[in-house]
Amino acid sequence: MMTSADNELLTRIGPDTAMGAMLREYWVPACRSAKLEADGAPERLRLFGENFVAFRATDGRVGFMQEACPHRCASLALARNEGNGLRCVFHGWKFSVEGKCVDAPTEPRVQRERFAESVPVRSHPTHEAGGLVWVYMGRKESPPRFPDYEFTNLPEGHVQPYRGIIRTNWLQGLEALLDSAHVTFLHSANLNSDRGRDYFKAESDYMLNDGAPAFEFDERPYGFREGAIREEGAARSYARVREVALPFFSFIPSAPRGARIVCCSIPIDDVTTAQWYIAYDTDAPLKPNLFGAFGMWSGDPDHFNSDMGDASNLWHQDRQAMKEGHWSGITGRGNAYEDFAVQESMGPIVDRSQEYLGTCDRVIYRARKLLLAAVRRHRDTGELSFVGDDIDYRAIRAVSFAFPRGADWRQVDPYELQEAAE
Ligand code: FES
Ligand SMILES: [Fe+2]
Repeated sequence: MMTSADNELLTRIGPDTAMGAMLREYWVPACRSAKLEADGAPERLRLFGENFVAFRATDGRVGFMQEACPHRCASLALARNEGNGLRCVFHGWKFSVEGKCVDAPTEPRVQRERFAESVPVRSHPTHEAGGLVWVYMGRKESPPRFPDYEFTNLPEGHVQPYRGIIRTNWLQGLEALLDSAHVTFLHSANLNSDRGRDYFKAESDYMLNDGAPAFEFDERPYGFREGAIREEGAARSYARVREVALPFFSFIPSAPRGARIVCCSIPIDDVTTAQWYIAYDTDAPLKPNLFGAFGMWSGDPDHFNSDMGDASNLWHQDRQAMKEGHWSGITGRGNAYEDFAVQESMGPIVDRSQEYLGTCDRVIYRARKLLLAAVRRHRDTGELSFVGDDIDYRAIRAVSFAFPRGADWRQVDPYELQEAAE
């Protein structure tokens, strides 16, 4: 059982917290690249309980800085975006992509330049990859190595990021992304639907038929991988092998070929989280507007769950649909809405000292244990966990496959099996 003190340590991410300090040391997705147009409107972003703006300058580079103008705190979301910088509409001070004040036209000419140079501006380095603008908010002089996961190296059209926004703490988001055991229950109606069968193919039946898979774990320098093994008759087993790249990413297992999804849970503040669903296909372009095609969204890629409801209307749960066979009654929009509803139903920051964990929660237990060790290590020594020069981020891939019963799933090459079956 977790103590309330550990729960606080894991969940609070403000500027003066141990977890906040640690999580800021990793590159995180801030917004979709497509959201920012050269010389277009700055994008207001809240991350880790602080407010920022991101903007694309005239030359295409992306700047990321405090939302409050360093002069007298007017919002730079209102700023003019021109001539490779943001110019505050209040008194005309201008800021570059590098986060320097480059003009302060309200100062006397003789000291204007010197004064501008003296203005303290808070800005952070950015990196664009995988259709996303990433930011490094940490304290180090130079940012850590960028985690170049395979989806960050694909041509345009092969990757589509979608952002969900949930009214809970980041760890609740992450834990839902790790929990393999709920799929058989919470998502059973979707697994059974035409849409679910179209996406999951044969997997649907494996997942529907066994709610208590055996879980096996392998440690990895970036976190761990989890094999959820189900038995299918006397001859075959079925493995869903998830990759967990802590502290944020869960790679969702899917068939060896075709579209895949990686998810991450990024704190907006203590009680609000950006849950990104990043769809990608290494071999072929995705269907345009993938989430729309599956009916999985409200129509807004930056808040794809905006119409999911809330506690006051029980997330639009439909009791009649339940009577007619729908498991959760949260109908119509696919798995993510069901996930978000149960996450939010726990309250903004769940009190983990009140839980009673079972065998199916081993993955949750493992993630918490690793995160607790990591946050203590970072707090006490300044050293960062889950990173390293020798990590091959591009090789991280979650996959699901059937294999002969009795074999070790670790020894199975799902690509070879698939080719043999074709
Ligand atoms: S508040 Fe921005 S220039 Fe004065
Ligand atoms: Fe789920």
